[in-house]
Amino acid sequence: MIDMHCHILPGIDDGAQNLEESVALLREEKRQGIQKIVFTPHFNPERQILDHFLTARENSWHHLQATDEFRQLELETKLGAEVYFSMRLTEMDLSKLAFENTNYILIEFPVNNRPYGMTRTLQSIIEKGYTPILAHVERYDFFTENPVKLYDLVSMGCVAQVNAAAVVSGVSVKGVSALQYINWELAHLICSDAHSMVRRAPNTQAAYELVEKKLGHQYTKWLIKNSYDIFQNNYFDEPVSHQPKKFLGKWR
Ligand SMILES: [Fe+2]
Repeated sequence: MIDMHCHILPGIDDGAQNLEESVALLREEKRQGIQKIVFTPHFNPERQILDHFLTARENSWHHLQATDEFRQLELETKLGAEVYFSMRLTEMDLSKLAFENTNYILIEFPVNNRPYGMTRTLQSIIEKGYTPILAHVERYDFFTENPVKLYDLVSMGCVAQVNAAAVVSGVSVKGVSALQYINWELAHLICSDAHSMVRRAPNTQAAYELVEKKLGHQYTKWLIKNSYDIFQNNYFDEPVSHQPKKFLGKWR
């Protein structure tokens, strides 16, 4: 399994604060069957200077890489970022923010409001040759209130991710759960978004087990293949999503 959204690099954001925490998180990831990881510390183009972020990420990575504990885990890793949505992204060099040696870039939105210029900005990122991965889509009211909005972005070429914790908890907002997005094939990836062993601890294994139990093996196979294709920078198959329809007041 592959985890492509986590805050495990030490001392760079609100995730792991030091090497000990990083190593503990990585040991837990490995124990759960994760073999490949993309490190995605937060980057906000409105508040941070790209070069400063890249230097901090490089330093944190070298620090971790230099430890025996990390090397003994024999994980395959890439650097990435969880980029806060900004219309400035259209003017930026995205190559350093995309997952290393790929054209995939993880983007998160403000929780409460659908940001101005969202579709236009995502379209322009796609036109530059990048595929936006929309982080934890289950979190946003503007999708749960009307999942067709997510369907439209996926049809445009975006990929969507749900958090393992949301899959496991089964929480639904306005009747729409993380599992429902997977069932519609509107969420293509499960990731941990792990911050610490206490706050959103890695639990990808439990999420996959739940998908297997509730939706069946073809769904777990599909999710794992998607994460593999993204990690390898393979062409992502045109997603065959089901368009959500409202029936008797519920999205189905
Ligand atoms: Fe995150």
